[in-house]
Amino acid sequence: MSKVIRLHRFGGNDVLQADDVEQSQPDAGELLVSIRAASVNPVDFKIRSGKYPAVKGDRLPYTPGRDFSGIIEKCGAQATRFKAGDEVFGMVGIHGGGYAEHAVVDQSAIAAKPAGLDHLHATAIPLAGQTAWQGLFRHGRLQAGQSVLIHGGSGGVGHFAIQFAKAKGARVLTTVSTDNVKFARELGADVVIDYKTQRFEDHAGELDMVFDLIDGETRERSWSLLKKGGVLVSTLTEPSQQKADEFGVRALRYTVEADGAELAEIAALVTAGKVKPHVQRTFALDAAADALASVEKGHSIGKIVLKVA
Ligand SMILES: NC(=O)c1ccc[n+]([C@@H]2O[C@H](COP(=O)([O-])OP(=O)(O)OC[C@H]3O[C@@H](n4cnc5c(N)ncnc54)[C@H](OP(=O)(O)O)[C@@H]3O)[C@@H](O)[C@H]2O)c1
Repeated sequence: MSKVIRLHRFGGNDVLQADDVEQSQPDAGELLVSIRAASVNPVDFKIRSGKYPAVKGDRLPYTPGRDFSGIIEKCGAQATRFKAGDEVFGMVGIHGGGYAEHAVVDQSAIAAKPAGLDHLHATAIPLAGQTAWQGLFRHGRLQAGQSVLIHGGSGGVGHFAIQFAKAKGARVLTTVSTDNVKFARELGADVVIDYKTQRFEDHAGELDMVFDLIDGETRERSWSLLKKGGVLVSTLTEPSQQKADEFGVRALRYTVEADGAELAEIAALVTAGKVKPHVQRTFALDAAADALASVEKGHSIGKIVLKVA
């Protein structure tokens, strides 16, 4: 038997409960991983509350958690990229499964854990890191020498985005609250704007890209800062194509995808010391509800993670 944290109905944090379940076994291209650490993302509380469209009642009982870092216990017959005993990390799909002692994962979605990084820091990377990577490079096509304004630079996605964009050679501007100005500077941002006391419009302009992790009024005030031919990329709601046409820019919203090869590229930057995941706080697996409540407050600095074993 294996322990999982599940919800049997949607609701507040009281719906999370620990269950012992029969462990499923890996199919041909899959691996069974003994999870050492998981991480918490905003999507987890959106799903828990029943407000995430891709997870409806037919998926209950549901185990939240999209990230894991752990050790391979067993490989499916065609899962030859890794072997039992390897330390790996990665992202599970929208079906979840990270808040657990074990997960069955697809070998194409994972990578070798960066050498020298512990499981608690490795598990902070996959979903937030790949969201940042895909937003900046796959969708934003950010190049060296270009400028990007990252809204929400102190959170899980934002703190990776600052570091990736700097590693690429871009000029990075970011908005954070007063207490996080020092953190954003330490991550390497060239211009840090305290959104509590400053108007970012007064400090940014002629941008190649706006990376929007906040939405709403913050996004609406950003259109005019883009150069013609620039791009607004959002992780939240679909941006207005009418506005994009008006300003002569591209604009899009995307959903992060698991990609083991890309995760290996991120791992190489971590190993090279160019990127550091920041773990604000660690909770025990049994305290997953408290960890989720902490992320739900919306003021995370880097990532909140769960220690599983
Ligand atoms: N589409 C996708 O595939 C995808 C993937 C990942 C995440 N997301 C979404 O993207 C958003 C960000 O994710 P995350 O994991 O980075 O969230 P997070 O870890 O909760 O971070 C949010 C950050 O935003 C800061 N913030 C709040 N209001 C702000 C404002 N007006 N201006 C600038 N910063 C502000 C918060 O700190 P302060 O309050 O101290 O400023 C916090 O550090 C979430 O809504 C998440 O659901 C979507």
